[in-house]
Amino acid sequence: KRILVLISGNGSNLQAILDACQEGRVAGEVVAVVSNKGEAYGLTRARAAGCATEVLEAAGFADRAAYDAALGDLVEGYRPDLIVMAGFMRILSPAFIARFHGRMLNIHPSLLPKFQGLHTHRRAIEAGESEHGASVHFVTEELDGGPVVLQARVPIFEGDTEAEVAARVQVQEHAIYPLVVSWFCMGRLVMMQDKALMDGEPL
Ligand code: GRF
Repeated sequence: KRILVLISGNGSNLQAILDACQEGRVAGEVVAVVSNKGEAYGLTRARAAGCATEVLEAAGFADRAAYDAALGDLVEGYRPDLIVMAGFMRILSPAFIARFHGRMLNIHPSLLPKFQGLHTHRRAIEAGESEHGASVHFVTEELDGGPVVLQARVPIFEGDTEAEVAARVQVQEHAIYPLVVSWFCMGRLVMMQDKALMDGEPL
C-alpha cells in the first residue's frame, strides 16, 4: 500500500512507521512525507529514509479552502491508499476530509473522547487523572471525533511533569500507530459509515 504521512514537527511517529515499513512489519511504503512547516525535523527523518518530501506552508494562501485544495492536489498526486496524520498541527476542512474519506488516520495524545484539542498532557495532570494515553482514530469531519481504532494507556504518577507524561505517552504511540497502519495495509481495518471495522466486526 502507498502511505503518505502529514507532519508539522519532530516526526517521531513518522519514524516509528518508517521503521515498521523497513522491517516488514507494515505491508506498505511511505511514498511521501508532507509538512506544513519547512523546519520540521520529520523532513530530515524522511530524507534519511529515502522518502520524497514536500513542504506546503500556509503563508501565501488566501484562506483555508485555498490551502486545503492545494494540499489535496499535492497529496492526490502521490496516489496514496492511506494518509497518516502524525503531529500535523492544522485543522483540515470538511472538503479535504471528504476527499480522502476512510483513508485518513490520526493519533491523538489522550484517551479519547477525553481531552480533545491541545495541551492534553497538562490538562490530564490538572484534572487529577491517574491514567492517560493515546488514541489512533480514523479522521472524520468531527475534530478528534472520528472512530477510535486503538488506544494505549499509561499511568500518571503523583508529581509527574507534563514532559514526563508526554514521554511516557509517546513510547506507546510508537507502538500502536505502526500496528494500526499495518492492519489498514493488510485490509483488515476499514471505516464504513463512519464506524471502524476490524475483520468485518465493529470495534
Ligand atoms: C504526538 O504526540 C501526537 O499524538 C500528536 O502530536 C505529536 C506528534 O509527535 N498528534 P511526533 O511529531 O510524531 O514526534
